[in-house]
Amino acid sequence: MKPDSGISVMITGTGAAVPDRVLTNRELEKTLDTTGHWIVQRTGIQERRIAGGRTATFHLAAAAAGRALRDARVAPEEVDLILVATSTPDQFTVPTAGLVQEALGADRAAAFDLSAACAGFPYGLATGAQFIRAGVYRTVLVVGAEIFSRIVNWRDRSTAILFGDGAGAVVLRPASSGALWYSHLGADGRGADILKVPAGGSRLLASEETVRQGLQYIHMNGREVFKFGVRVMEEELRLAMEQCGLYPEQIDLFVPHQANLRMIETAVERLGLPRDRVYVNIQRYGNTSAASIPIALDEAARCGCLAPGSVVAMVGFGAGLTWGTCLATYRSAAG
Ligand code: ACO
Repeated sequence: MKPDSGISVMITGTGAAVPDRVLTNRELEKTLDTTGHWIVQRTGIQERRIAGGRTATFHLAAAAAGRALRDARVAPEEVDLILVATSTPDQFTVPTAGLVQEALGADRAAAFDLSAACAGFPYGLATGAQFIRAGVYRTVLVVGAEIFSRIVNWRDRSTAILFGDGAGAVVLRPASSGALWYSHLGADGRGADILKVPAGGSRLLASEETVRQGLQYIHMNGREVFKFGVRVMEEELRLAMEQCGLYPEQIDLFVPHQANLRMIETAVERLGLPRDRVYVNIQRYGNTSAASIPIALDEAARCGCLAPGSVVAMVGFGAGLTWGTCLATYRSAAG
């Protein structure tokens, strides 16, 4: 979407929630044929958070959403729409967003889930923003929340080292003049096989046999995902800057999907972005899929890496294949 059409939209608050339990590389060394050195060298990940057995995705989502509302000084009753991007919903038939609505007491809000894997958060931002741009809603909560530890095969060293659990959320509202909003989404279904959970859906119901074969877990061609992710980050951010008429130095902060540090570094180098304008926290959380960008965004806001009026660029990519980009103004410089 071109940046100049319709009412503009702004991020007015952020929040995040991660489980307390830290799973270190050293612990993984005890159960997998791997080393902490290999994991850090190939991915940048040092530790990740893992949800306890009683925690469901909605618990993390509601906690992150509540914090985002408080940060934006918005009451739950003011929320018009709650959108939860997740690939690990609590259940198939109950939208996680409905459970979040109930937990927050956001009685007026419509609520639905959105499935676009690790690109879920930019897809959520683009979707939520459309309701504001069309003048339909004024306050939209976009949440990315995942418990990937439940769909990871803890005996598969090529995937078990990568993922973690958590949630992040933002509040979107109509922007004051001068705010930037740009989003662009993409998909390529030909790449569906390189990253997927084969069983548990209508195509292949869960059965004793699928469980025996481990088809309820994530299966991935890491090298193909790597190439795809680097290409998408570079192409998408270039396109976004071109469409918005921005130079790399006019992006105050780039918050990419946190999938692999080497992927981020390669894309950033190709784009010529200054390294201190790129927010990275993969070392502490691993890949939290749809939650990775909003968790990083919230951290960046708390540590002062984002200031009111900052232009933040976000790019997500994942299974589908799917990808999405958003350039937004963080809060109003005018206060
Ligand atoms: N420890 C030690 N060795 C390992 C491990 C491990 N944890 N995992 C794989 N290896 C081995 C492989 O078996 C292979 O050995 P071989 O050469 O004897 O066959 C060797 O290391 C190299 O394997 P590669 O797969 O080529 O390793 P690569 O450098 O590509 O790193 C990785 C693998 C980390 C998975 C990388 O490809 C990657 O990060 N890809 C992107 C993954 C990703 O982002 N996924 C999520 C996308 S978002 C979503 O929608 C969920």
